[in-house]
Amino acid sequence: MSSTLFLQSEIADPYSIYKSALDKNPVYWDEINKIWVIYSYKYCVEILKSSCAEIPLINPENEQKLNESALEILNNLTRLSNGIQHEISKEIAMMLFSNLQITDHKRLLQELFQNDLVENKIDWVNSIGKKLPVLVLLKSFVFEEDDCDFIIEKIESFSKIMLPKKTEEQVELINKTSEKLFSIVEKHLSSLPFYKSLTIKISNKYNLSTDKIISITVSNFIGLCIQSFDAGRGLLSNSLLQLIQNKNILDKTEIEKLVLETVRFDPPIHNTRRIATQDFYIGESPIKKNDPILIVLAAANYDPEKFKNPSAFDILRSNNNENLTFGTGGHMCLAKYFSIHLATEALWFLFNEYKTITLLENNIQYEPMTNARLPKKIWISIHN
Ligand code: HEM
Repeated sequence: MSSTLFLQSEIADPYSIYKSALDKNPVYWDEINKIWVIYSYKYCVEILKSSCAEIPLINPENEQKLNESALEILNNLTRLSNGIQHEISKEIAMMLFSNLQITDHKRLLQELFQNDLVENKIDWVNSIGKKLPVLVLLKSFVFEEDDCDFIIEKIESFSKIMLPKKTEEQVELINKTSEKLFSIVEKHLSSLPFYKSLTIKISNKYNLSTDKIISITVSNFIGLCIQSFDAGRGLLSNSLLQLIQNKNILDKTEIEKLVLETVRFDPPIHNTRRIATQDFYIGESPIKKNDPILIVLAAANYDPEKFKNPSAFDILRSNNNENLTFGTGGHMCLAKYFSIHLATEALWFLFNEYKTITLLENNIQYEPMTNARLPKKIWISIHN
């Protein structure tokens, strides 16, 4: 059995590992890393929907030495919480999301291209992927220019707050930014019309203090920025790589289909984790209380029992929307359609404005992450 926990930067083709695991061990106990690894579609769904497994704690007893503001943000994130805390923070995150205002993607894209296009060349990851999703979010909440600049500059180092293990240097940068980031977001959100009604609604429903509600709301807004920065850029990047290879794409509807099939075929997020809260069985495998579990969403997308001929990139596949890339169950991503729409808009802009798009580097390098497959750079040249 090949490695179960690997850095995406070190593996050229993770999908061949997943296919062989699906064939041999769809539910596998990794004795070296002491973790269950789930590959099959059916069992991934079963665990994601199970009440016997929950999100593992990051940073118990603040062993990573985050400062007060950073700890407050981390502890409030819906993505990382369980039980009633998850219920409340998810509701707040969804209320935030439902208050997004429509933004002019085209104008933002034009500005980003103008800023960084030199001699018809641009690095799609750094100039578009790392900026567009976060900017769309910030502009949708009408943040001022200076605030956008600060958040765009700091979000990369701050996003490391999600890592289960952090280096001292990462912690230092997170701590350095946390207080200002929190206060910028708090000040701005509190000036928006929906904020008061959100606070009243949550306070009536859950009997929480206004301070606590503000804390959860601000933290989860920052959480949305982090997810936009990481997963958002991954989808933009991986979809562009498919667009460049699939020369027969004609219109925006086909681009949307291409994005959706990319979500299945080459997803930005490859796995997520749970911890067993009690003994239970997955198929015939006995999972014990406190066993860690790795759910390989990207492998489930290649399960032949679910997707016919899974290794074929097929934008006409009838069930590609049933991929597990955005998870399922209580913690399912709330930005699925936002992300697919944004990637479609960005690729359509590129495709429509520039008739020739050429990839300048064939050997794409990936970030050294275990849970996400994110290209480091994609240099392209574009001509109209
Ligand atoms: C673009 C590609 C994206 C992918 C592939 C993705 C994937 C996921 C996955 C797999 C989960 C579930 C994790 C689990 O069950 O353990 C998740 C949750 C979440 N995602 Fe996304 N995501 C993406 C983009 C975004 C964006 C852009 C945002 C915010 C604007 C976002 C916000 C969230 C939030 C808040 C949760 C937590 C939901 C909860 O725990 O209840 N995601 N995402």
